[in-house]
Amino acid sequence: MNANFPHQYRMSLTVAAHSARHIRRIIRTLLKDWGMDDLTDATQTATTELISNVVRHVPDHHCTVRIARHETGTRVEVTDMSSAVPAPPRTPSPDSERGRGLLLVEAVADKWGVDKVPGGGKTVWFECHQRTDRP
Ligand SMILES: Nc1ncnc2c1ncn2[C@@H]1O[C@H](COP(=O)(O)OP(=O)(O)OP(=O)(O)O)[C@@H](O)[C@H]1O
Ligand SMILES: [Mg+2]
Repeated sequence: MNANFPHQYRMSLTVAAHSARHIRRIIRTLLKDWGMDDLTDATQTATTELISNVVRHVPDHHCTVRIARHETGTRVEVTDMSSAVPAPPRTPSPDSERGRGLLLVEAVADKWGVDKVPGGGKTVWFECHQRTDRP
C-alpha cells in the first residue's frame, strides 16, 4: 500500500446518468492502492445504487461523496440536501421495475444506514468489510 496515498477521497458534485461510471473508476483506483481489490465489486455496486438514487430522487441532483478506507474495509457516504429519507427496503412485487436499489446495497454491503444531517438533508452510507476467514 502506498503510505502517501490519502485514506479518504471526497468530492462534491451534481450527478447525472454518466456520473456513476466515473465514480466506479475512482473506486477501482483507490481500492487498488489501498490493497482492497477484493472489495471493489461490492463497493462499486453499492455506490452506483446510491448515486443513481441521487439522480432519481434528489431534486437538485447534488451530493457529496466520501470514499474512506477503514482498517478492515471501505466506507462510502453519499450526502444530499433532500429531506426525504429512503424507506427501509422491502421485496418489490415481481413486476415492479423499481425498489431494488437499496435491497442490492443491503445484499452486497456488510452494513448500511441513513443519518440525518443537522441543518437538512441526510447521509446514506455503507461499509464493506474484508473477510478475515481467508487464508
Ligand atoms: N437519496 C434519496 N433521497 C430521497 N429519497 C430516496 C433516496 N434514495 C432512495 N430514496 C427513496 O427510497 C426508495 C427506495 O430506493 P431504491 O433505490 O431501493 O429504489 P428505487 O430508486 O425507487 O428503484 P431502483 O433503485 O430499483 O431503480 C425510493 O423509491 C425513494 O423513494
Ligand atoms: Mg434506486
